[in-house]
Amino acid sequence: MAKRPRISVMGIGYVGLCTAVGFASKKYRVLASTHDAEKAKKINKGVPPFYEPNLQKLLKETIESGYLKCLLNQQENTVLETDITFNAVGTPSKPDGSIDLQHIKNSTQEIGKAILKKDAYHVVAVKSTVVPGTTQNIVKPILEKVSKKQCGSDFGLCMTPEFLREGSALKDTFNPDRIIIGEHDKTSGDKLENLYRSFYSPKMPPVVRTNLPTAELIKYASNAFLATKISFINTMANICEKTPGADIKTVAKGIGLDKRIGPLFLNAGLGYGGSCFPKDVKAMIAYSRNTGFRPELLEAVEEVNETQPRKAAELCKRILGDLKNKKIAILGLSFKPHTDDIREARSIPLINQLLKEGALVTAYDPVAIPATKTILKTRIEYASSAVECLRNADCCIVVTEWDEFKSLKPEDFTKNMRQPVLIDGRRIYAVEKFSPKLKFAAIGLNTP
Ligand code: UGA
Repeated sequence: MAKRPRISVMGIGYVGLCTAVGFASKKYRVLASTHDAEKAKKINKGVPPFYEPNLQKLLKETIESGYLKCLLNQQENTVLETDITFNAVGTPSKPDGSIDLQHIKNSTQEIGKAILKKDAYHVVAVKSTVVPGTTQNIVKPILEKVSKKQCGSDFGLCMTPEFLREGSALKDTFNPDRIIIGEHDKTSGDKLENLYRSFYSPKMPPVVRTNLPTAELIKYASNAFLATKISFINTMANICEKTPGADIKTVAKGIGLDKRIGPLFLNAGLGYGGSCFPKDVKAMIAYSRNTGFRPELLEAVEEVNETQPRKAAELCKRILGDLKNKKIAILGLSFKPHTDDIREARSIPLINQLLKEGALVTAYDPVAIPATKTILKTRIEYASSAVECLRNADCCIVVTEWDEFKSLKPEDFTKNMRQPVLIDGRRIYAVEKFSPKLKFAAIGLNTP
């Protein structure tokens, strides 16, 4: 059997850590690197720095087996010791929506320094989400300048976007729908494809090999399309609310059965959040405007998403009237279930709106309370269970569709709340079961 390439991973957010753990779990030697001492310490103890189903067990196993190690401030060394580097450092948003490439530039410098010292051919694979042109026009020149070597002949360069979702990150790492390989040259692409083939053997996902900017664009186009589906269904939900007798859930089911449309990402709700869709749609808009093309569709997608959380506050006001000193129970704070991530979570603008109206907010989430406290601090109260959150409330708004909320019964609301008013912001409750017993309103449901 050919010797397995050794792998280095820069950046240990969701993408970097899942990539590192994935390869290490299949007995590839992996060196991860970070500048965050706290994170490195945790990882080397087998403790994930964020909540993600199944990650704890696999991380512990890979650390204990010695296949994965996390080094602090030693990016250059991790590259020197390995054959392929995945660069998965963060690309945060700047105030104008464009992305900040500072981490990519810094880490690329370190990779370049290592390539300068290395005799063996090394492949650099960019996994961070970067706008078209970044790998060719920023990463490659830095690598060539610092290493004093030629890309394509002395070292390889690829751009291979990642499509994993938080909450199912490991599952997605092991079973992606497709692999995209943007290649600077054929040898670079072959090396990366061979690595993926050995990793996914015996069942390799479909592969698309292309050039660097197309690969970069595929990532943005995927996220922008999914965000568009969500803003589309939320627009239809708003139309449903104005249409006597209409319900968006059945509309979504009806259109989703058309194979050309498909059933996924048609859940109407309070909009999309997280570290990807909001940032990537903004970045695509900024990039596109820079090219001289105004992406009106994407601008509308973003605008719909900004106004959507306010819908729940409006529904609440329509039912309760003045919200001053009304006690509102918020169920769910994370941007989606199975994660404690509250980046761009719809709960935050909604809660801010309710507080502005003078409401008293109590919130419960199975895992995201510590993260929320760092932002909302003591401006709201935090409950230790869903039922405790409902106690004496005048209205409950479901913001995140955690399974434990789905099992609540109408009696849990009627028995505990001061006024049994429920706003289903994620459409998890059966209207026929809840509507007769409670004052029930929901996104995309025409309630008289
Ligand atoms: C998203 C993409 O789904 C991944 O393929 C991609 O790799 C990732 O971004 C990334 O770029 O790193 P993620 O942000 O983890 O993954 O979450 P999603 O499951 O896509 O959900 C995003 C948001 O859309 C959530 O707030 C969710 O509640 C919302 N959503 C999703 C809806 O409002 N309706 C839907 O039907 C589906």
